[in-house]
Amino acid sequence: MKRPIAYFAGTGRGVPSTVMTNFDFAAIGIDTTDEWIVERTGIKQRHIAKTENATDLAAAASRKAMEKAGVQPGELDIIVLGTASPDRLLPSAAVDLQASLGASRAAAFDVGAACSGFIYSATVAEGLMATGNADTALIVGVEKLSAITDWTDRATCVLFGDGAGAAVLKRSKQQKGILSTFVRSDGSLGDLLCRPAGGAAKPFSSDVLAERSQYIKMNGREVFKNAVRSMSEAATRALDSAKLTGADIDLMIPHQANIRIIEATAKHANIPMAKVYVNVDRYGNTSAASVPIALDEAIERGVVGEGSTVLLVAFGAGFTWGSMVVRL
Ligand code: UT7
Repeated sequence: MKRPIAYFAGTGRGVPSTVMTNFDFAAIGIDTTDEWIVERTGIKQRHIAKTENATDLAAAASRKAMEKAGVQPGELDIIVLGTASPDRLLPSAAVDLQASLGASRAAAFDVGAACSGFIYSATVAEGLMATGNADTALIVGVEKLSAITDWTDRATCVLFGDGAGAAVLKRSKQQKGILSTFVRSDGSLGDLLCRPAGGAAKPFSSDVLAERSQYIKMNGREVFKNAVRSMSEAATRALDSAKLTGADIDLMIPHQANIRIIEATAKHANIPMAKVYVNVDRYGNTSAASVPIALDEAIERGVVGEGSTVLLVAFGAGFTWGSMVVRL
Protein backbone atom coordinates (compact mmCIF):
# COMPACT_ATOMS: atom_id res chain seq x y z
CA MET A 1 0.00 0.00 0.00
CA LYS A 2 1.29 3.47 -0.90
CA ARG A 3 2.17 5.80 1.95
CA PRO A 4 -0.69 8.26 2.40
CA ILE A 5 -0.01 11.80 1.19
CA ALA A 6 -2.59 13.58 3.32
CA TYR A 7 -4.34 12.90 6.63
CA PHE A 8 -7.39 14.35 8.33
CA ALA A 9 -5.96 16.59 11.07
CA GLY A 10 -9.27 18.04 12.24
CA THR A 11 -12.95 18.14 11.33
CA GLY A 12 -15.84 20.47 12.10
CA ARG A 13 -19.47 21.14 11.24
CA GLY A 14 -21.77 24.14 11.16
CA VAL A 15 -25.53 23.70 11.04
CA PRO A 16 -28.33 26.27 11.20
CA SER A 17 -30.15 26.59 14.51
CA THR A 18 -33.66 26.26 13.03
CA VAL A 19 -34.99 22.71 12.90
CA MET A 20 -37.93 21.79 10.67
CA THR A 21 -39.67 18.48 11.39
CA ASN A 22 -41.82 16.46 9.02
CA PHE A 23 -44.88 17.74 10.87
CA ASP A 24 -44.00 21.35 9.97
CA PHE A 25 -44.84 20.82 6.27
CA ALA A 26 -48.56 21.02 7.01
CA ALA A 27 -48.13 24.63 8.09
CA ILE A 28 -46.75 25.59 4.64
CA GLY A 29 -49.50 23.74 2.80
CA ILE A 30 -47.52 20.69 1.62
CA ASP A 31 -49.62 17.57 1.14
CA THR A 32 -47.39 15.01 2.86
CA THR A 33 -47.15 13.00 6.06
CA ASP A 34 -44.44 12.12 8.55
CA GLU A 35 -45.23 8.48 7.82
CA TRP A 36 -44.59 8.85 4.04
CA ILE A 37 -41.33 10.75 4.51
CA VAL A 38 -39.95 8.39 7.17
CA GLU A 39 -40.93 5.24 5.28
CA ARG A 40 -39.58 6.40 1.88
CA THR A 41 -36.48 8.28 3.04
CA GLY A 42 -35.74 7.81 6.77
CA ILE A 43 -35.83 11.61 7.27
CA LYS A 44 -37.53 12.98 10.40
CA GLN A 45 -36.19 16.54 10.48
CA ARG A 46 -33.73 18.89 8.78
CA HIS A 47 -31.90 22.11 9.68
CA ILE A 48 -32.97 25.17 7.67
CA ALA A 49 -30.89 28.35 7.39
CA LYS A 50 -33.22 31.25 8.22
CA THR A 51 -30.57 33.80 9.14
CA GLU A 52 -27.32 32.10 8.11
CA ASN A 53 -25.73 32.21 4.66
CA ALA A 54 -23.71 29.35 3.22
CA THR A 55 -20.51 31.26 4.01
CA ASP A 56 -21.51 31.53 7.68
CA LEU A 57 -22.10 27.78 7.92
CA ALA A 58 -18.85 27.01 6.07
CA ALA A 59 -16.88 29.40 8.29
CA ALA A 60 -18.31 27.87 11.49
CA ALA A 61 -17.38 24.36 10.31
CA SER A 62 -13.93 25.49 9.12
CA ARG A 63 -13.02 27.29 12.36
CA LYS A 64 -13.81 24.15 14.37
CA ALA A 65 -11.79 21.97 11.99
CA MET A 66 -8.82 24.38 12.14
CA GLU A 67 -8.99 24.58 15.93
CA LYS A 68 -8.88 20.79 16.24
CA ALA A 69 -6.02 20.61 13.72
CA GLY A 70 -4.10 23.39 15.47
CA VAL A 71 -3.94 25.36 12.22
CA GLN A 72 -4.22 29.14 11.85
CA PRO A 73 -6.04 30.65 8.82
CA GLY A 74 -2.75 32.09 7.52
CA GLU A 75 -1.26 28.58 7.32
CA LEU A 76 -3.79 27.33 4.75
CA ASP A 77 -2.27 26.81 1.30
CA ILE A 78 -5.53 25.86 -0.43
CA ILE A 79 -9.26 25.97 0.23
CA VAL A 80 -11.26 23.54 -1.88
CA LEU A 81 -15.01 23.85 -1.43
CA GLY A 82 -17.80 21.67 -2.76
CA THR A 83 -21.23 23.25 -3.12
CA ALA A 84 -24.26 23.45 -5.37
CA SER A 85 -25.76 26.43 -3.52
CA PRO A 86 -23.13 29.18 -3.18
CA ASP A 87 -24.18 32.54 -1.72
CA ARG A 88 -23.58 34.11 -5.15
CA LEU A 89 -22.62 32.82 -8.59
CA LEU A 90 -19.49 34.94 -8.91
CA PRO A 91 -16.94 34.91 -7.32
CA SER A 92 -16.70 31.45 -5.81
CA ALA A 93 -18.00 30.39 -2.39
CA ALA A 94 -14.43 29.40 -1.55
CA VAL A 95 -13.10 32.96 -1.85
CA ASP A 96 -16.01 34.26 0.25
CA LEU A 97 -15.01 31.70 2.88
CA GLN A 98 -11.35 32.70 2.52
CA ALA A 99 -12.26 36.33 3.25
CA SER A 100 -14.42 35.33 6.21
CA LEU A 101 -11.58 33.27 7.71
CA GLY A 102 -8.77 35.68 6.84
CA ALA A 103 -6.88 32.87 5.11
CA SER A 104 -4.91 35.33 3.03
CA ARG A 105 -2.23 32.95 1.66
CA ALA A 106 -4.61 30.33 0.32
CA ALA A 107 -5.61 29.61 -3.27
CA ALA A 108 -9.36 29.13 -2.98
CA PHE A 109 -11.77 27.61 -5.49
CA ASP A 110 -15.02 25.67 -5.75
CA VAL A 111 -15.58 22.15 -6.98
CA GLY A 112 -18.92 21.53 -8.73
CA ALA A 113 -19.73 17.94 -7.96
CA ALA A 114 -23.03 18.33 -6.07
CA CYS A 115 -23.49 15.69 -3.34
CA SER A 116 -20.08 14.17 -4.12
CA GLY A 117 -18.48 17.58 -3.59
CA PHE A 118 -16.63 16.78 -0.37
CA ILE A 119 -15.04 13.59 -1.70
CA TYR A 120 -14.13 15.34 -4.95
CA SER A 121 -12.66 18.26 -2.96
CA ALA A 122 -10.58 15.92 -0.81
CA THR A 123 -9.34 14.14 -3.93
CA VAL A 124 -8.34 17.41 -5.62
CA ALA A 125 -6.64 18.66 -2.45
CA GLU A 126 -4.72 15.41 -2.06
CA GLY A 127 -3.54 15.78 -5.68
CA LEU A 128 -2.28 19.33 -5.10
CA MET A 129 -0.49 18.13 -1.99
CA ALA A 130 1.07 15.26 -3.97
CA THR A 131 2.54 17.68 -6.53
CA GLY A 132 4.00 19.86 -3.79
CA ASN A 133 1.58 22.75 -4.38
CA ALA A 134 0.17 22.58 -0.86
CA ASP A 135 1.06 21.27 2.57
CA THR A 136 -2.08 22.29 4.43
CA ALA A 137 -5.56 22.22 2.88
CA LEU A 138 -9.02 23.14 4.05
CA ILE A 139 -11.74 21.08 2.39
CA VAL A 140 -15.37 22.00 2.82
CA GLY A 141 -18.80 20.78 1.82
CA VAL A 142 -21.53 23.37 2.33
CA GLU A 143 -25.10 23.81 1.19
CA LYS A 144 -27.98 26.19 1.64
CA LEU A 145 -30.34 24.00 -0.38
CA SER A 146 -33.38 25.66 1.20
CA ALA A 147 -32.66 28.66 -1.06
CA ILE A 148 -32.80 26.59 -4.28
CA THR A 149 -35.60 24.22 -3.24
CA ASP A 150 -39.11 24.56 -4.67
CA TRP A 151 -41.18 24.77 -1.49
CA THR A 152 -44.33 23.96 -3.49
CA ASP A 153 -42.95 20.62 -4.82
CA ARG A 154 -43.59 17.87 -2.27
CA ALA A 155 -41.45 15.40 -4.21
CA THR A 156 -38.28 17.38 -3.42
CA CYS A 157 -38.89 19.89 -0.62
CA VAL A 158 -39.16 17.21 2.06
CA LEU A 159 -35.74 15.81 1.20
CA PHE A 160 -33.20 18.58 1.67
CA GLY A 161 -31.46 20.36 4.55
CA ASP A 162 -28.78 23.00 5.08
CA GLY A 163 -25.37 22.69 6.71
CA ALA A 164 -21.61 22.55 6.34
CA GLY A 165 -18.78 20.19 7.17
CA ALA A 166 -15.06 20.82 6.91
CA ALA A 167 -11.72 19.11 7.39
CA VAL A 168 -8.10 20.20 7.49
CA LEU A 169 -5.74 17.98 5.54
CA LYS A 170 -2.08 17.97 6.48
CA ARG A 171 0.86 16.24 4.89
CA SER A 172 1.05 12.68 6.21
CA LYS A 173 4.26 11.50 7.83
CA GLN A 174 2.90 8.15 9.00
CA GLN A 175 0.72 5.32 7.72
CA LYS A 176 -2.43 7.28 8.37
CA GLY A 177 -4.51 9.36 6.00
CA ILE A 178 -6.18 8.84 2.62
CA LEU A 179 -5.47 5.24 1.53
CA SER A 180 -7.45 5.29 -1.71
CA THR A 181 -9.78 7.47 -3.75
CA PHE A 182 -12.23 6.84 -6.58
CA VAL A 183 -14.18 9.47 -8.55
CA ARG A 184 -16.41 9.17 -11.62
CA SER A 185 -19.14 11.09 -13.40
CA ASP A 186 -21.69 10.67 -16.20
CA GLY A 187 -22.86 13.95 -17.70
CA SER A 188 -25.27 12.24 -20.08
CA LEU A 189 -27.64 11.86 -17.10
CA GLY A 190 -27.37 15.47 -15.94
CA ASP A 191 -31.02 16.35 -16.66
CA LEU A 192 -32.31 13.83 -14.10
CA LEU A 193 -31.27 16.10 -11.23
CA CYS A 194 -30.61 19.71 -12.09
CA ARG A 195 -31.41 23.39 -11.69
CA PRO A 196 -32.50 24.26 -15.21
CA ALA A 197 -32.33 28.06 -14.99
CA GLY A 198 -30.24 30.79 -13.45
CA GLY A 199 -27.10 29.92 -15.43
CA ALA A 200 -25.83 31.66 -18.56
CA ALA A 201 -27.95 29.51 -20.92
CA LYS A 202 -31.18 30.52 -19.22
CA PRO A 203 -30.56 33.58 -17.06
CA PHE A 204 -33.15 34.78 -14.56
CA SER A 205 -36.24 36.29 -16.21
CA SER A 206 -39.93 36.60 -15.49
CA ASP A 207 -40.46 33.35 -17.48
CA VAL A 208 -38.00 31.54 -15.25
CA LEU A 209 -39.76 32.77 -12.14
CA ALA A 210 -43.17 31.82 -13.57
CA GLU A 211 -42.11 28.25 -14.39
CA ARG A 212 -40.08 27.96 -11.16
CA SER A 213 -37.14 26.58 -13.15
CA GLN A 214 -34.56 28.25 -10.89
CA TYR A 215 -35.23 25.47 -8.39
CA ILE A 216 -33.95 21.88 -8.16
CA LYS A 217 -35.82 19.43 -10.40
CA MET A 218 -35.40 15.71 -9.84
CA ASN A 219 -36.60 12.44 -11.28
CA GLY A 220 -36.52 10.65 -7.92
CA ARG A 221 -36.90 7.08 -9.14
CA GLU A 222 -34.12 7.33 -11.74
CA VAL A 223 -31.82 9.11 -9.29
CA PHE A 224 -32.54 6.41 -6.71
CA LYS A 225 -31.61 3.56 -9.07
CA ASN A 226 -28.41 5.25 -10.20
CA ALA A 227 -27.47 6.17 -6.63
CA VAL A 228 -27.66 2.55 -5.49
CA ARG A 229 -25.69 1.29 -8.47
CA SER A 230 -23.00 3.98 -8.38
CA MET A 231 -22.49 4.12 -4.62
CA SER A 232 -22.16 0.33 -4.57
CA GLU A 233 -19.56 0.53 -7.34
CA ALA A 234 -17.73 3.35 -5.57
CA ALA A 235 -17.60 1.50 -2.25
CA THR A 236 -16.11 -1.57 -3.90
CA ARG A 237 -13.60 0.38 -6.01
CA ALA A 238 -12.11 2.32 -3.07
CA LEU A 239 -11.88 -0.87 -0.99
CA ASP A 240 -10.21 -2.76 -3.84
CA SER A 241 -7.63 -0.08 -4.49
CA ALA A 242 -6.78 0.07 -0.77
CA LYS A 243 -6.54 -3.77 -0.87
CA LEU A 244 -9.17 -4.01 1.86
CA THR A 245 -12.59 -5.65 2.19
CA GLY A 246 -15.74 -4.56 4.00
CA ALA A 247 -14.54 -6.58 7.01
CA ASP A 248 -11.53 -4.25 7.40
CA ILE A 249 -13.71 -1.14 7.66
CA ASP A 250 -14.60 0.24 11.11
CA LEU A 251 -17.23 2.60 9.76
CA MET A 252 -18.82 3.42 6.43
CA ILE A 253 -19.98 7.02 6.08
CA PRO A 254 -22.26 7.23 3.06
CA HIS A 255 -23.91 10.32 1.59
CA GLN A 256 -27.12 10.78 3.54
CA ALA A 257 -29.90 11.06 0.95
CA ASN A 258 -32.15 8.14 1.72
CA ILE A 259 -31.90 5.28 4.25
CA ARG A 260 -32.88 2.78 1.56
CA ILE A 261 -29.95 3.86 -0.68
CA ILE A 262 -27.62 3.62 2.34
CA GLU A 263 -28.81 0.11 3.22
CA ALA A 264 -28.41 -1.11 -0.37
CA THR A 265 -24.87 0.31 -0.59
CA ALA A 266 -23.86 -1.26 2.73
CA LYS A 267 -25.18 -4.65 1.63
CA HIS A 268 -23.24 -4.48 -1.62
CA ALA A 269 -20.03 -3.55 0.23
CA ASN A 270 -20.55 -6.38 2.76
CA ILE A 271 -20.67 -3.94 5.63
CA PRO A 272 -23.31 -4.57 8.33
CA MET A 273 -25.59 -1.63 9.18
CA ALA A 274 -24.08 -1.64 12.69
CA LYS A 275 -20.91 -0.29 11.03
CA VAL A 276 -22.70 2.36 8.94
CA TYR A 277 -23.11 5.93 10.18
CA VAL A 278 -26.64 7.25 9.69
CA ASN A 279 -27.88 10.74 10.50
CA VAL A 280 -30.24 11.32 7.55
CA ASP A 281 -33.07 11.18 10.11
CA ARG A 282 -31.79 14.40 11.75
CA TYR A 283 -30.35 16.37 8.80
CA GLY A 284 -32.10 15.22 5.62
CA ASN A 285 -30.02 15.41 2.45
CA THR A 286 -27.44 18.18 2.87
CA SER A 287 -25.70 17.31 -0.43
CA ALA A 288 -21.96 18.16 -0.31
CA ALA A 289 -22.17 18.71 3.45
CA SER A 290 -23.58 15.32 4.35
CA VAL A 291 -20.37 13.24 4.42
CA PRO A 292 -18.24 15.75 6.40
CA ILE A 293 -21.06 16.47 8.88
CA ALA A 294 -21.42 12.74 9.50
CA LEU A 295 -17.63 12.26 9.74
CA ASP A 296 -17.34 15.05 12.30
CA GLU A 297 -20.24 13.67 14.36
CA ALA A 298 -18.82 10.14 14.26
CA ILE A 299 -15.45 11.38 15.55
CA GLU A 300 -17.04 13.63 18.21
CA ARG A 301 -19.22 10.76 19.46
CA GLY A 302 -16.25 8.41 19.65
CA VAL A 303 -17.71 6.04 17.05
CA VAL A 304 -14.32 6.28 15.32
CA GLY A 305 -10.99 7.75 16.37
CA GLU A 306 -7.24 7.58 15.87
CA GLY A 307 -6.39 4.42 13.89
CA SER A 308 -9.95 3.72 12.66
CA THR A 309 -10.43 2.85 9.00
CA VAL A 310 -13.35 4.70 7.44
CA LEU A 311 -15.00 4.36 4.03
CA LEU A 312 -16.59 7.54 2.65
CA VAL A 313 -19.02 7.15 -0.27
CA ALA A 314 -21.18 9.67 -2.14
CA PHE A 315 -23.36 10.17 -5.20
CA GLY A 316 -25.04 13.26 -6.62
CA ALA A 317 -26.17 15.41 -9.50
CA GLY A 318 -24.06 15.16 -12.62
CA PHE A 319 -24.21 12.31 -12.04
CA THR A 320 -21.08 12.28 -9.93
CA TRP A 321 -19.96 9.60 -7.53
CA GLY A 322 -16.90 8.85 -5.49
CA SER A 323 -15.39 7.16 -2.50
CA MET A 324 -12.37 7.25 -0.27
CA VAL A 325 -10.79 4.98 2.34
CA VAL A 326 -9.22 6.94 5.19
CA ARG A 327 -7.20 5.79 8.19
CA LEU A 328 -7.85 8.38 10.88
O1 UT7 B 1 -28.43 13.37 -3.12
C1 UT7 B 1 -28.55 12.55 -4.25
C2 UT7 B 1 -29.79 12.86 -4.93
N1 UT7 B 1 -31.02 12.48 -4.34
C3 UT7 B 1 -31.37 11.24 -4.02
O2 UT7 B 1 -30.59 10.35 -3.87
C4 UT7 B 1 -32.84 10.95 -3.94
C5 UT7 B 1 -33.17 9.69 -4.69
N2 UT7 B 1 -34.59 9.38 -4.75
C6 UT7 B 1 -35.31 9.05 -3.65
O3 UT7 B 1 -34.82 9.07 -2.55
C7 UT7 B 1 -36.74 8.62 -3.86
O4 UT7 B 1 -36.98 8.40 -5.23
C8 UT7 B 1 -37.75 9.65 -3.29
C9 UT7 B 1 -37.71 9.65 -1.79
C10 UT7 B 1 -37.46 11.03 -3.85
C11 UT7 B 1 -39.18 9.24 -3.72
O5 UT7 B 1 -39.46 7.95 -3.26
P1 UT7 B 1 -40.15 6.89 -4.27
O6 UT7 B 1 -40.39 5.69 -3.48
O7 UT7 B 1 -39.25 6.79 -5.47
O8 UT7 B 1 -41.52 7.61 -4.59
P2 UT7 B 1 -42.07 8.11 -6.00
O9 UT7 B 1 -41.34 9.31 -6.47
O10 UT7 B 1 -42.13 6.93 -6.92
O11 UT7 B 1 -43.53 8.53 -5.60
C12 UT7 B 1 -44.47 7.56 -5.07
C13 UT7 B 1 -45.75 8.29 -4.73
C14 UT7 B 1 -46.28 9.16 -5.85
O12 UT7 B 1 -47.70 9.04 -5.87
P3 UT7 B 1 -48.43 8.11 -6.95
O13 UT7 B 1 -48.03 8.67 -8.28
O14 UT7 B 1 -47.90 6.72 -6.70
O15 UT7 B 1 -49.88 8.29 -6.60
C15 UT7 B 1 -45.91 10.56 -5.43
O16 UT7 B 1 -46.79 11.54 -5.94
O17 UT7 B 1 -45.55 9.16 -3.62
C16 UT7 B 1 -46.04 10.47 -3.94
N3 UT7 B 1 -45.21 11.46 -3.22
C17 UT7 B 1 -45.48 11.87 -1.99
N4 UT7 B 1 -46.46 11.56 -1.13
C18 UT7 B 1 -46.44 12.14 0.08
C19 UT7 B 1 -44.09 12.07 -3.67
N5 UT7 B 1 -43.62 12.90 -2.71
C20 UT7 B 1 -44.47 12.79 -1.66
C21 UT7 B 1 -44.51 13.37 -0.39
N6 UT7 B 1 -45.51 13.01 0.45
N7 UT7 B 1 -43.58 14.25 0.04
